[in-house]
Amino acid sequence: MADREPTIVIASDAAEAGRRAAESFIDVLSDNVEAGRERHFIALAGGSTPEVCYRALTEPPLRDRFDPAGVEWFFSDERCVPPDHPDSNFGLARRSLLAPLGVASDRIHRMPADEDDLTSAAAHYEHMVRSRVPIGSNGLPAFDVIFLGLGADGHTASLFPGSPALGERHHLVKAHRIESHGAWRMTMTFPLLWAARRLFVLATGANKAEAVAAVLLPGSDANRWPAATLREGSSAVTWFLDADVARLVERHRPT
Ligand code: 6PG
Repeated sequence: MADREPTIVIASDAAEAGRRAAESFIDVLSDNVEAGRERHFIALAGGSTPEVCYRALTEPPLRDRFDPAGVEWFFSDERCVPPDHPDSNFGLARRSLLAPLGVASDRIHRMPADEDDLTSAAAHYEHMVRSRVPIGSNGLPAFDVIFLGLGADGHTASLFPGSPALGERHHLVKAHRIESHGAWRMTMTFPLLWAARRLFVLATGANKAEAVAAVLLPGSDANRWPAATLREGSSAVTWFLDADVARLVERHRPT
């Protein structure tokens, strides 16, 4: 499949980048409703960057522009910690988005990365995704939007440079040990990310400028810069950047 050109949104700062992502998210839900689709399937990113986006969705004016009742919330990756641990991606989403929106617990699908048997837990999460998320044209679950972040090393979700999981093409969710972190993670794999209708990648901060430039450079080494692989799927990929992280990107201007 030919690589799809990503959309690049360059905001003046991190808060504005988060707001632009939140606005685009609401536009997706509005388009779905106009097309007669009342249910929406979203996977949330971890890390710290998405918090400004999540919080913008819980406050006026954006809060008043969508109905969260039709949304089912999933996660693109998770650390192997309990849900109330400060490092939990679920915990970040619960504090900054899901609880403030009053999302019912049966609409929230936490990645069970704190279970003892992580291989079985990953398989169960995959089975649940396959059973709940509408199947797209390529026979895989097609999320409406998967939010993702980017590490300064070019990782996205928990797909890190040099990881065997980068080449996983059968399992849609995997648990694996991240040698650079000395810890286990659970993550969606590229086939599931590629099947999403849209990928919203949020990256801000000067420390990631080299990674963003490398990832967006056509033909870059995807084993070294894993997020470069996102372009190989059928998803419409949109990057939400701030000026600091975009300083090495050719089209350097707030849009
Ligand atoms: C995670 C994320 C990971 C994150 C990047 C960026 O679990 O950590 O899924 O991919 O998006 O590491 O993290 P920051 O937003 O904290 O810079």
